[in-house]
Amino acid sequence: MKRVGFVGWRGMVGSVLMERMRAENDFARIPEPVFFSTSQVGQPGPDVGYGASPLLDANSLEALRAMDVIITCQGGDYTKAIHPRLRASGWDGYWIDAASALRMEPDATIILDPVNRPVIDAALDAGKRDFIGGNCTVSLMLMAIGGLFRAGLVEWVSAMTYQAASGAGAQAMRELLVQMGALHGSVASLLSDPAAAILDVDRRVTETLRDRSFPTASLGAPLAASLIPWIDTQLENGQSREEWKGQAETNKILGRTDQQIPIDGICVRICAMRCHSQGLTIKLNRDVALDEIESLIVSANDWVRVVPNERTATIHNLSPATVAGSLLVPVGRLRTMNLGSRYLSAFTVGDQLLWGAAEPLRRMLTILLD
Ligand code: HSE
Repeated sequence: MKRVGFVGWRGMVGSVLMERMRAENDFARIPEPVFFSTSQVGQPGPDVGYGASPLLDANSLEALRAMDVIITCQGGDYTKAIHPRLRASGWDGYWIDAASALRMEPDATIILDPVNRPVIDAALDAGKRDFIGGNCTVSLMLMAIGGLFRAGLVEWVSAMTYQAASGAGAQAMRELLVQMGALHGSVASLLSDPAAAILDVDRRVTETLRDRSFPTASLGAPLAASLIPWIDTQLENGQSREEWKGQAETNKILGRTDQQIPIDGICVRICAMRCHSQGLTIKLNRDVALDEIESLIVSANDWVRVVPNERTATIHNLSPATVAGSLLVPVGRLRTMNLGSRYLSAFTVGDQLLWGAAEPLRRMLTILLD
């Protein structure tokens, strides 16, 4: 019987993880789940079918050391503070983590089992103990076109992303909605007058966006009626860290150490709530018929779907509005580009909180429980 400890289960990603575990009845296989807290130690934990027990201290190495598995959505600062000391104390349990802090450590495995189950199994056989969720855009891209990588067809990928506010956290989602409200409020009276000139409406929207009082504390800049073409920190080579992760994490997930597949692009925050979208240019290393490409894509896992490259199907099936809350990962706009016969375009949308965050962690836990 494995003792499983949950840390950071009340935050946004942790809450999605709990929802998914309840929906899949995972707690039936974990008779004594242990819930930790950094701020409410001793208060009643959640009842997941066994009654509520007091929350244990997430900063207590002694309490953590009693676990066979720790699954944390608490964030990178917690990981950096606790994980090294826990390991140094001799704890050799499994650490499953949503944060990026440990991802590129040599002993860590990035988990996305529909894509890299053989890499995960090899890591388990080798006695590895750290299993880390991947970056959301990377995981969603691989859920979408993993079949092309598996078939060895990909020479390189350029990923232009359209990333939701949720990737920047719960406060960013709230602020996006407050921004939308502020913009609407600034023109509500004009909008109710059908005769109002649209350029007057637009002028007032722009003034509101540029007003010093416009709420940007969390996002750093206006996102409603705008976009932010930089995500995460700045690297010396001109990439954002989010862009750097594309190649580094994809190759690590696929278990490629040398002969890296180049992946690059521009990562952009847009005003979607929880779905990341990506426009992909894929350079194939040989000519492949489009129907073969489609069948490689859809046969790669149980969640990917090909959307026909037609206007009506695309606008109804390939959008954050349609995909939010769903595990399905649609891929569309598949066509050979004018650039040449081996240049394939694709567009994909995925729920950043599901396959981009909570679901790979949930599935790793079930692998350990099997
Ligand atoms: N870094 C991602 C984003 C989210 O900012 O959208 C987590 O992978």
